[in-house]
Amino acid sequence: MKPLRHFLSIKDISEKEARLIFKKASEFKTNRGKNALFFLSSQTWALIFRKPSTRTRLSFEVAVRELGGEALFLNSQDLQLSRGESIEDTAQVFGRMVHGIIMRTFSQKELELFALYGNIPVVNALTDEEHPCQVLSDIFSYEEKRGSIERKKIAFVGDGCCNVARSWALAAEIFRFNLSIAAPPLYFSPIDNPFVTNTTSIEEACQDASLLYTDVWTSMGKEEEMQKRQVDFSGYQLNEHAVKVASKDVLVFHCLPAYRNKEISTELFKERAEDIYTQAENRLHVQKALLAWLVGKLDDSLPSE
Ligand code: CP
Ligand code: NVA
Repeated sequence: MKPLRHFLSIKDISEKEARLIFKKASEFKTNRGKNALFFLSSQTWALIFRKPSTRTRLSFEVAVRELGGEALFLNSQDLQLSRGESIEDTAQVFGRMVHGIIMRTFSQKELELFALYGNIPVVNALTDEEHPCQVLSDIFSYEEKRGSIERKKIAFVGDGCCNVARSWALAAEIFRFNLSIAAPPLYFSPIDNPFVTNTTSIEEACQDASLLYTDVWTSMGKEEEMQKRQVDFSGYQLNEHAVKVASKDVLVFHCLPAYRNKEISTELFKERAEDIYTQAENRLHVQKALLAWLVGKLDDSLPSE
């Protein structure tokens, strides 16, 4: 019996496993449409989403289908969960009918309970705490263009407490890059490890950086804070000033959706749009490989220690 695996946090994966996933993702990307590998043949995977999504839903639905499985999208409002049915009962029932769950929700704890009771793989498709699929895929996107991310300086401008920034901060320790977060002090990263620094200065964070990254100022679920955040983050826009102090071959990424002239200037987005759309596309290839890893299909090629 293969061990049951989940992907609830970026910490659920070692660097070695991530590299195996990247290798397969690269093959999937090159061979798309030919040499299909039906790793999820005869399987049904449920997507349970409590928040809106364009990229994550689309990329996972396509990923499951291209791997020969069926994807079943369920809006959580349609489930008895919305009327107070317990997570334990819900997860038990899902575990008896589908082969895996891809879930977008608010609380990380809820996701963990699904993993505890479902007895099937559970994937974090974004919680308030983490967005590990995004960051795993972003590291692949960086390395696809620039090679190893190890020892590189990555600058994150914006909300250092948000899910994407937290997954970046945890990933820094796994992949050994330096993450410099530029944010107002209230939004400094809560993740404490030797690879993460916080500063209020965009210039300091972006100086010599190899990748400039940003995300929305107001994450889903924080809408009531939007006005305050527009004020708090007004000086924290990624724009040509940040690019000027960064490394000459700096990449600019945005997880999307992007709000022009808020967290990123219209001009910079336009200039870097091709890379940003490729970054979005790579979600598909990386998540296909992640699913293959979760069902134990990449193990045989694991190099020995
Ligand atoms: N980047 C990302 O996860 O986008 P969606 O919210 O559209 O899924
Ligand atoms: N931090 C953002 C990410 C969107 C993909 C949010 O949670 O809304």
